[in-house]
Amino acid sequence: MNGHDSELMESVLISSGFQRVDSEAAANIVILNTCSVREQAEHKAIGRLQQLARRKALEKNFYLGVSGCMAQNLGLELFRRVPALDFAIAPGSIYAIGEVLKRLEHGEKQIFLANGDIETFAEDDTNFCRRKITRVSAFVTIANGCNMNCAYCIVPKTRGRETCRPINNIMHEVQFLVANGVKEIILGGQIVNFYGIRKIPFENGKSPFVQLLEKIHTIDGLERIRFLSPHPSGFRDDLIRSYSDLPKLCPHVHFPIQSGSDRILRAMRRSYTRRMALEILGNLRRSIPAMAISTDLIVGFPGEMEEDFHQTEQLFNEIDFDMAFIFKYSPRAGTSAAAMGNQIPKIISEERNQILLKRLAVTSLRRNQLFLNSHQSVLVEASSAKDPRILWGYTPHHKKVFFPAPEKMIGKIVDVKITRITTCALTGTLASE
Ligand code: 5AD
Ligand code: SF4
Repeated sequence: MNGHDSELMESVLISSGFQRVDSEAAANIVILNTCSVREQAEHKAIGRLQQLARRKALEKNFYLGVSGCMAQNLGLELFRRVPALDFAIAPGSIYAIGEVLKRLEHGEKQIFLANGDIETFAEDDTNFCRRKITRVSAFVTIANGCNMNCAYCIVPKTRGRETCRPINNIMHEVQFLVANGVKEIILGGQIVNFYGIRKIPFENGKSPFVQLLEKIHTIDGLERIRFLSPHPSGFRDDLIRSYSDLPKLCPHVHFPIQSGSDRILRAMRRSYTRRMALEILGNLRRSIPAMAISTDLIVGFPGEMEEDFHQTEQLFNEIDFDMAFIFKYSPRAGTSAAAMGNQIPKIISEERNQILLKRLAVTSLRRNQLFLNSHQSVLVEASSAKDPRILWGYTPHHKKVFFPAPEKMIGKIVDVKITRITTCALTGTLASE
């Protein structure tokens, strides 16, 4: 979502008359779009800001800003930590970036916009028309914020209560993107499968999210639909069936499990059990051929005993993840887990992290092997940075494929025969245009 927010700010700035430059040194305005999920990211951002602040003393016409979760999390404290900072904008107010810069030009100082300071998700919002389309795949925000209360997570504080975007407005954006060459969309929000759950009634047993998928599926010219991320609770049969009913819905799910131990899931306040999660993933793998599954996992959550970690290792054996993002638990001030006893020493989290990474290398290789010698339809994104004669793109299962082909293939869906695999990518040859 942060990557997408950066793109949105860029589009708003360009349409307000600003220009993009190629290097930080050439810029008069530098905005750090920040993440607060782990402490280290915040430390790094503060360090970078303090470095950049030195330019303020030397260049009269230089503006420095922070956007994203850290702006909401630290608020006015940021101006104390970095006195040269000109502005801080929380994730919910980034559309106001153009106006903030105008206010600075008029001499205002240290401007702070929190979540809720500007209206988001208006029914008739047309800001998306200002989007600069650079890729064949585009992210589309359908909801923002989160009403869950996971013990480790800062997001409910930084992105606020869940708000969801009206269906018609989402449809307009997707239609606009497709009319401008986009072939794949990624629907995004903190918990996409809870989309509209309190506002839109179920229809024939279908949740508002599944209704949204069905509507988007009707858009001609759109080839692929993905979403990020669902919550394991609320991943019901209607959504599992969508994968068979809607051919544009890609056979890959990012399913953040967080832990394989019921005791830890309960302590994390994750409202599902290991068995429930396994059942959903089992159903998905049974009903959709070679369904790709990726996940998020936290190791070293307070109180995670050897036995709990062992349960997570076991889960790894049972699921064979295609990909997993493994995080070492990072205590975040203001979350309930930060105040828990039994914090796990860093050295143990690191050890557990390494064990899972090693196992992931085995499972992702095994999963990629399923595709060796097969033909895959690849949505071509770009040429490789190392060699412009090599293009890359993704298969429906979200496997990255490299293959030699002329540049004119970029943006197309092509048939590639897979000839080699590694843990993180596939290589192949073009079978047809
Ligand atoms: N420490 C470590 N990882 C975290 N995540 C969220 N909060 C924390 C934290 N305090 C991870 C979760 C989530 C992903 C985006 O970041 O796994 O799914
Ligand atoms: Fe954080 Fe939990 Fe909400 Fe995900 S569901 S954003 S982990 S509070």
